[in-house]
Amino acid sequence: MSQSKIKVTAVAKAFGTNTVLKNVDLKVQAGEVVVILGPSGSGKTTLLRSLNFLEQPDSGTLEICGHRIEVVAGKGLSRADRQQITQLRQRTAMVFQSFNLFPHLTALQNVIEGLISVKKVAKPEAINKGMALLEQVGLADKADSYPARLSGGQKQRVAIARGLSMDPEVIFFDEPTSALDPELRDEVLLVMRNLANAGMTMLVVTHELRFAQEAADRVIFMEGGVIAKDATTEAFFSADSGERIQQFLRRY
Ligand SMILES: Nc1ncnc2c1ncn2[C@@H]1O[C@H](COP(=O)(O)OP(=O)(O)O)[C@@H](O)[C@H]1O
Ligand SMILES: [Mg+2]
Repeated sequence: MSQSKIKVTAVAKAFGTNTVLKNVDLKVQAGEVVVILGPSGSGKTTLLRSLNFLEQPDSGTLEICGHRIEVVAGKGLSRADRQQITQLRQRTAMVFQSFNLFPHLTALQNVIEGLISVKKVAKPEAINKGMALLEQVGLADKADSYPARLSGGQKQRVAIARGLSMDPEVIFFDEPTSALDPELRDEVLLVMRNLANAGMTMLVVTHELRFAQEAADRVIFMEGGVIAKDATTEAFFSADSGERIQQFLRRY
């Protein structure tokens, strides 16, 4: 058994005539933290969303947490494929730029909603787990607060706790700090760094270069729907990573 949590080959996706992913290959090992950098419109979000079929790739072979789906151009998904997708979604979590919390539920209720409705965990047990997760993201004292009463950084930490509630094997982050004021970003990045240090497998689209330098094992640079660079963090940020990378990094 391979220790790859993510292993995809030749993933392609077009929106109409706009080809957004051009036969992307990507492998992520258990415990790896991989940061995806790249200019706007390069396909980062589409790649992330394709990995849990929020966006259906046009073709390619995807193996996520041991669940394998081969998408053949022009052919629909089989029932077996759909079962694989349901299962891989239960093993992954996604954290979005916009936190997507339920406004009518408290922080704690947001965190335990999936435990109760999807995993059918008994309420007292769900509450215990939810409180432990809020503690982990530094928000135990906000358990009964509604999202409207939380800062953006607090909301994003609740969203991370909600993702963790399902015991994911991989977490996908899509620009988790981009909607936040600069002074609120560090509290979210700290939670993410702690997860990375605890061995979580993470695939993170971000513009936070310091986070990449401190937490990533590898950095991927996407441009025009292809992975233009896939390097260790050290190599990526070194002076000889190539002119295009240097040019991109200089903009920060
Ligand atoms: N749902 C969609 N429908 C049509 N075009 C889309 C859709 N989502 C993304 N795109 C297009 O795909 C390209 C890549 O977008 P995206 O994956 O969001 O890039 P990034 O996250 O790197 O900024 C862009 O040209 C974007 O306009
Ligand atoms: Mg994006």
